[in-house]
Amino acid sequence: MTAPSKVKLNPGDTIGILGGGQLGRMLALAAARLGLKCHVYSPDPDSPAFDVVQRATCAEYADVAALELFAADVDVVTYEFENVPSGTAMILAARRPVLPDPAVLQITQDRLAEKDFVRKLGIGTADYADVTSLEGLKQAVLKIGLPAVLKTRRFGYDGKGQVLIRASNGLKEIWDELGTHAAILEAFVPFEREISVVAARGFDGHVECYDVTENEHRDHILKFSHVPANIPDELAAQARDITRRIADAFDYTGVLAVEMFVQNGTELLVNEIAPRVHNSGHWTLDGASVSQFEQHIRAIAGWPLAPQQRHGAVTMTNLIGSDIEGYADWLAKPGATVHLYGKGPAREGRKMGHVTEVRPAEKPAKTPV
Ligand SMILES: Nc1ncnc2c1ncn2[C@@H]1O[C@H](COP(=O)(O)OP(=O)(O)O)[C@@H](O)[C@H]1O
Ligand SMILES: [Mg+2]
Repeated sequence: MTAPSKVKLNPGDTIGILGGGQLGRMLALAAARLGLKCHVYSPDPDSPAFDVVQRATCAEYADVAALELFAADVDVVTYEFENVPSGTAMILAARRPVLPDPAVLQITQDRLAEKDFVRKLGIGTADYADVTSLEGLKQAVLKIGLPAVLKTRRFGYDGKGQVLIRASNGLKEIWDELGTHAAILEAFVPFEREISVVAARGFDGHVECYDVTENEHRDHILKFSHVPANIPDELAAQARDITRRIADAFDYTGVLAVEMFVQNGTELLVNEIAPRVHNSGHWTLDGASVSQFEQHIRAIAGWPLAPQQRHGAVTMTNLIGSDIEGYADWLAKPGATVHLYGKGPAREGRKMGHVTEVRPAEKPAKTPV
């Protein structure tokens, strides 16, 4: 049994979202504004996306009976995070269109497959090597050099599952601590900036890229995004072109984000691909004529994408962990738009909300007549 790979939705149809975090919540809000309904599927009873939809399933991703009921209730399935088990995606894809295609997940869930994919397109990445053992790590260090970053191939996020290696003593401890046999060693990139491009690709292959975003991390977690990135126009055009080529190569449908390092002023190296809406695109909620969330919904519904128009220079600030305690100050700040995710305890490193500040472009002074 195979479902069609795409169906065009009508207002009133239902989108199934796998994952119930803040990304799912903001997708569901955007869908509601376009007259579409959402059914959120998440194993976590405290999912913030459950608060904004009427139809929700709280079940494990391996629960076939729950997946079948979910599929029967929705017209299309999408996801808000990339670690959906491939078995889950396959069960659903047999019944309903799943967008972006689960084949994309298989690649982007695995840092090694992802980097191989990008390199095959002739796009630059940090040098890397596959590592499956302590002996292999020693060899990889000789090949790649130090400093280098050792990462688990799967399930890493917000810097989890990665270690910076500065010296070749202590490799055994580092390997044991990583606790996996599937790793990748990457050359440390002494980048000047980190940027990302969020883009949407529609049923017809048309791609709309947002302006390039510059990202600042603290403790490996995104803290600020600034738009436009402080890079020459030509480099920004190259970054968008790289993103478009990746989206085309996946025959992608929906929104994706490509994280890149800028090195030596003019060199772009792809770090990661997120097959979903992305934290570095949150500024679009208030800083652009169409948000990344709405753009994703339009794309998977088979609706026209909106050419983005940015309202000015934008800064997005993430509220992480105890930052949330300052929410009243942010609410009182002129020009700030506050988004709180309605999550439970403000654990360290947990993304609790974000704030967008838009500085409208100055209008040219009126010429006196
Ligand atoms: N090869 C590298 N060289 C330099 N910095 C890196 C490298 N890989 C990752 N980093 C830093 O760590 C951050 C998180 O790594 P990333 O690979 O994006 O994993 P994730 O976002 O899934 O945790 C990056 O945004 C970057 O700041
Ligand atoms: Mg990243």
